[in-house]
Parts: sequence; structure tokens; C-alpha cells
Amino acid sequence: MVGVATSRSESDLSQDASTTTRATILGVVAALAGLMFGLDTGVVSGALPFIAQDFHTSARMQEWIVSSMMAGAAFGSLIAGSISTRFGRTGAMMGAAALFLLGTFVCTFAPSPAYLICGRVFLGLAVGVAAFAAPLYISEITVESARGAMISFYQLMVTLGIFLAFVSDGFFSHGGHWRWMLGVMTVPATLFMISVLFLPHSPRWLAMKQREGQALKVLRLLRSDEEVAQAELASIEARLNRDTGAGWNLFRREPNFRRSVMLGIILQVMQQLTGINVLMYYAPRVFQAAHFGTSAAVWATTLVGLINMAATGVAIVFVDRWGRRPLLMLSCAIAAISMAGVGILLAIGGDSLGIQIGLVGFVLLFVAGFAIGEGPLVWTLCSEVQPTRGRDFGIGCSTVTNWAANWLISNTFLTLMATLGSSGTFLLFAAFNALFIVITLTFVPETRDVSLEAIETNLFAGKRLRDLGR
Ligand code: GLC
Repeated sequence: MVGVATSRSESDLSQDASTTTRATILGVVAALAGLMFGLDTGVVSGALPFIAQDFHTSARMQEWIVSSMMAGAAFGSLIAGSISTRFGRTGAMMGAAALFLLGTFVCTFAPSPAYLICGRVFLGLAVGVAAFAAPLYISEITVESARGAMISFYQLMVTLGIFLAFVSDGFFSHGGHWRWMLGVMTVPATLFMISVLFLPHSPRWLAMKQREGQALKVLRLLRSDEEVAQAELASIEARLNRDTGAGWNLFRREPNFRRSVMLGIILQVMQQLTGINVLMYYAPRVFQAAHFGTSAAVWATTLVGLINMAATGVAIVFVDRWGRRPLLMLSCAIAAISMAGVGILLAIGGDSLGIQIGLVGFVLLFVAGFAIGEGPLVWTLCSEVQPTRGRDFGIGCSTVTNWAANWLISNTFLTLMATLGSSGTFLLFAAFNALFIVITLTFVPETRDVSLEAIETNLFAGKRLRDLGR
């Protein structure tokens, strides 16, 4: 037991601790999980038309091929909490890496659609586990001042993955080589697996497992000096509840914990209600509706991927400078206005060049708006607002919600379009984005430069959610 008396306050600690190069490198390696997430989400859109040709599949079967991954991811995120409590965050990432390889293998050599579905369930499981364990790991090894940027960097890797998958699909599409599109994912999956081998366990997890000596060793590796490392361990330990089944019990007992869990759930539902994945999965269709040729629609989709990535980069620069709340509100406002723009132009209709340009402009503006806040910041906030005890449980709840809502939106989009019309559907998304502004104003705390421990203390002191960072 390494009990360290320290005279430093938590705010001193966050100021003194500078990000060491090592912590950054480890964060970057863990963020490769995000790259895998993006690659495997993005790759199917380009492969699907050729798969459909080869196997003569119905539209319903194609929906199954696409959505089986989201179902797998929902289940994966459901079990990710207990896996990363039991085997550690790095153990969970290693398991995900193995599933990425297995899923890729099954998909590449699939003799029938049933095998493809099965392979995509494996990939989904991998994504579900990795999307839980990697951000958790990153938030546990980085210092407060860099935490927002590091987790946004994770989101940047997701968007880089989506973009690279679009581009790679583009190259292989000339010969219709869908097996190559899926099979080439073996390369990043293998690299990810090898990199995870070099990651040390997270200090918080080690402390949770009563392995304080090792926790201190890792902290020494990651922090600028001995005093900072010892103070941080003391601070982690002071709040640890060693009961690993604490999450559910805490949820039943503590109304304050229920509030932070609910905030995570609401944020993830709102993120999906923005309509982002409707564009990720159906952007070519939207462009074709504006009378673009097929190849122009494919390139416009690649542009969506590029803008998504570039704007996420902007979020990284500003998240720890401007803070979460202003950036999130700006993001929601841009997204609401541009979705309304899409809706209005679709209502006007016609195939004039002005309408076409306007539509593409609003779609790209929406994606940029989403990517500077609603995308990366929801993931950041979901990990920041959960207390150490019950942290796995809290993040698990919000991550499962993300996948369930993702599944729901992409499974109702066509029905919505048929019921409300295309313009009505996009106006509805505009309204959801506007609602997101109100939710941010009312519930979202400013967590910039605030230690996880301070947020927890405020939560259990019964402060309003909005004031957790004060
Ligand atoms: C966020 C969302 C995900 C979406 C992605 C697009 O990570 O959670 O559903 O596909 O952003 O960049």
C-alpha cells in the first residue's frame, strides 16, 4: 500500500502535471482503436453494391449485412464494462484486436451472405469493446489539461478511418473487388494488435485491483515528476471503491449517480438524433436525389468524409481552449441551421444548379458543424462526468445507448422519409439539433481543466449537473 500524504491541492496537481511525451504516445496508440472503428464502419458502404451483385441479395438482406455490425457493437459495449474491469482496459483492447482479425477473415472469405453477417457481428463486437475501452484508457492516462484533446484525437482517428475506408473502396471499386476492400483491413488490425502489446495497464485500473506498486510505476512513467505521480495515486486511491460490482448498486442507491448516468444516455441519444449517420450511410443517395451522377455522388461522399475529419481536427485545437459548452453550442447551432437549409431546399425541389450547390453546401456545413462538437465532445463528456466508482457502468450505459440509437436511426430513416417526406425528415433533424442546444444549456457542465476527482466530489455533494465543474 503506497499511502502518500500530500499537501498539494487538486488544482495545483492539474497545473503542475505536464503531459509527457510518453503519455501522449500511449494515448495515440490506444486511439488506433478508433481508426479500426472508423475503417470497419466506413468500409461496407462501398462494398455493398458489389456484394449485392455477387450474391444476388435482396434489399432486406443488404440491410441485415449492414446492421448486423451495429447489433454486434451494441452487445459488445454491453459486455465491455465487465471485460475491462476484469482484464483491464488493455486486455479488453487485445480481445477487440483478435475479434477484428477474426471478423475480417470471416468476411473476406465468406461463401454466402450468412457468413458475411456472422463476420460483421464479430467486427461489431470488436468495435463495441474497443469503443468502450480505448477512450476510457485514454482518459485514465492523460492529465486534465490534455484530456479533452486526447479524446477528441480518438474521434479524429474514427473519422480518419471512415475517410480512408471510403478512399480505399474507391480504388478497389474499379474491378468490383469487394473481398479486397474487406480483406485489406487485416493490415491495420494486425498493426493494432501489435501496438496494444506495448501498452501498460491504466494506473486507475491497477489501483482498483489493489496493485498500487505497479500503478505508481506506470504513473512515474507518465507524469513529469515523482511528486506529481505520488499525489495522483493518492488522489485516485482516496476515491476508489474496490467493489467491482459497485456500478449497479451505486445506481440503485445514489440519485446523484443516476443523474450522471442519465446525462451520458441523453447526450448519446441526442448525438444520434442529429442525423449524422443518416448522412454517413445515405449521403450518396442524398446527392443522387439532387441529380448528381453516380461517380459525382461517390466523390461528394468522399468529401463528406474529408470534411468530417478536418472539422474534428478543429475541435482538438479548441476543446481545451474554449471549453466544452461554448463549442458544443456552436456546433449544435451550425448543425440545426444547415439541416434546416437541407430541408428547405428539398422542399423547393427542382434540379437547378443553384439548388444542387446549396444542398451539397448545407450537407458539408452540417457535417463540419457536427464534427466540431456534437461528435467528439459527446464522447469526451460521457467519460468525464462519471465518478470513479461506477465509472465502467456509467460509460457502459452511454456507449450501449449510442449503438442502440445508431441502429434505430438507420433502421427508420427510409420509413421516416416515406412518412414525412424528405424535406420534413431533415426539418425534424433540424429541430433535434435545436433541442440539443437547450439540453446543453440546461445540463452540460464545463469540464475543461477540472480533474475527474473534483467532478466526482461535486456530483456527490449534490451539485446541479451543470455546476459539476465549478
Ligand atoms: C460519432 C458517432 C458515430 C458517427 C461518427 C461520425 O463517433 O458516435 O455514430 O458515425 O461520429 O464521425
